[in-house]
Amino acid sequence: MKKNAIITIDGWSACGKSTLAKQLAKELGFVYIDSGAMYRAITLYFLRNHIDWTDPKEVEEALKNIKIEFHFNEKSQQSEVFLNDENVEWLIRDLVIAEKVSDVAAIREVRAFAVHQQQLMGKKKRIVMDGRDIGTTVFPHAEVKIFMTADNGTRVERRFKELFEKNPNISLEEVKANLEMRDYIDSNREVSPLRKAEDAILLDNTNLTMEEQLEFALKLVK
Ligand code: DC
Repeated sequence: MKKNAIITIDGWSACGKSTLAKQLAKELGFVYIDSGAMYRAITLYFLRNHIDWTDPKEVEEALKNIKIEFHFNEKSQQSEVFLNDENVEWLIRDLVIAEKVSDVAAIREVRAFAVHQQQLMGKKKRIVMDGRDIGTTVFPHAEVKIFMTADNGTRVERRFKELFEKNPNISLEEVKANLEMRDYIDSNREVSPLRKAEDAILLDNTNLTMEEQLEFALKLVK
């Protein structure tokens, strides 16, 4: 593999994209960028500021006041997302955000804003970025493209475990309904819907351990 490469990982909600992206970035000494965190941070801003996102003018104005950055936290060894200088990494993982983020991410102006910033972040190459349209729209010429999937039940269980740790009041049904809704909106929206890029390699990790999925991806990269 070229030293300066872009690796894209797209796929359905909660199929382990970020886990694999972080593993790969660590192994290769690349920077991991979570593009979904940007849509989540924008959703948080819209909710907090009561933005009517059905009004394109209001959306455009609101976007002018949004600054999104990623900072690496040495302590947690994770990259964390900042919204206008506030660390919102924890807040944006809440189900309240998950319930609205697909609607916000379907807005043309929001996508133009996020995609532009993602492309700037990719200028230096040596990144692993995960999302829904990274291999199709953001970096159509990326050196390595992976499209991830996993069995629906497995995805629901994995995401439930993750959210339950933060909020024991959450139910499996709620998580299942949210994933189904997001998959539907993400893959049926007008602007860059979730699609496997023609040259992306399919990775189904339903029956793979984390070590096995990393091994698969590293072979592909090398
Ligand atoms: O990966 P995630 O679950 O954090 O993403 C949150 C939402 O953001 C997801 O439902 C769809 C949207 N998204 C998108 O439309 N395009 C991306 N590149 C990444 C995420």
